Amino acid sequence: MVTEAQRRLAPYASRTAVLCADLTKPLPLRSVDGVFSTATFHWIHDHEALFAHLAAVLRPGGQLVAQCGGAGNIARVHAAAKAAGVDLEATHFAAPARTKQRLEAAGFVAVRCWLQPEPTPLEPGEPFETYLRTVCLRPHLEQLAPSEQPAFLRNVMEQLGEPVIDYVRLNITARRSEIGREA
Ligand SMILES: C[S@@+](CC[C@H](N)C(=O)[O-])C[C@H]1O[C@@H](n2cnc3c(N)ncnc32)[C@H](O)[C@@H]1O
Repeated sequence: MVTEAQRRLAPYASRTAVLCADLTKPLPLRSVDGVFSTATFHWIHDHEALFAHLAAVLRPGGQLVAQCGGAGNIARVHAAAKAAGVDLEATHFAAPARTKQRLEAAGFVAVRCWLQPEPTPLEPGEPFETYLRTVCLRPHLEQLAPSEQPAFLRNVMEQLGEPVIDYVRLNITARRSEIGREA
């Protein structure tokens, strides 16, 4: 992804910097004009720290626009995995009200957070299995021996029935306060 971003942003190289960094730690950046993120924040468990790291690099008045898995995201898939023997909370699907509080505490204003159900139908059979194996259930499968994985996947698919992923997205828009981070 970093290589692809460098390629695409090459025409703007004088105004952009591409780097690979861990959002659980302070970011090695100076002031940026905006933060845009998609499908990533739910992998970070400590959202207080995450929003503090973003606020620390976003210029006063700078805009945050983000989307990630929100409360209730892929609940059917997780329930089926749990019933098939793997109970894993690898992700943090936050609720809008709590997210708004956390953003305001980190120094954001004009915060809007809302859930958007996005049930996503997939092609039945092999395409559905591949999607579950490589995306939704990848952290679950990593907990199992390779010999146990096919039966687990079959079990989850049987329980799910229709090939629909019950995505619920958390949308976020906010602005960095002009007066800096609240004490
Ligand atoms: C579902 S992908 C989304 C990728 C891309 N934003 C997109 O929409 O195609 C989730 C991304 O979260 C990133 N990620 C997970 N934990 C992270 C962390 N602690 N710091 C930075 N990125 C992280 C992964 O590297 C992965 O690229």
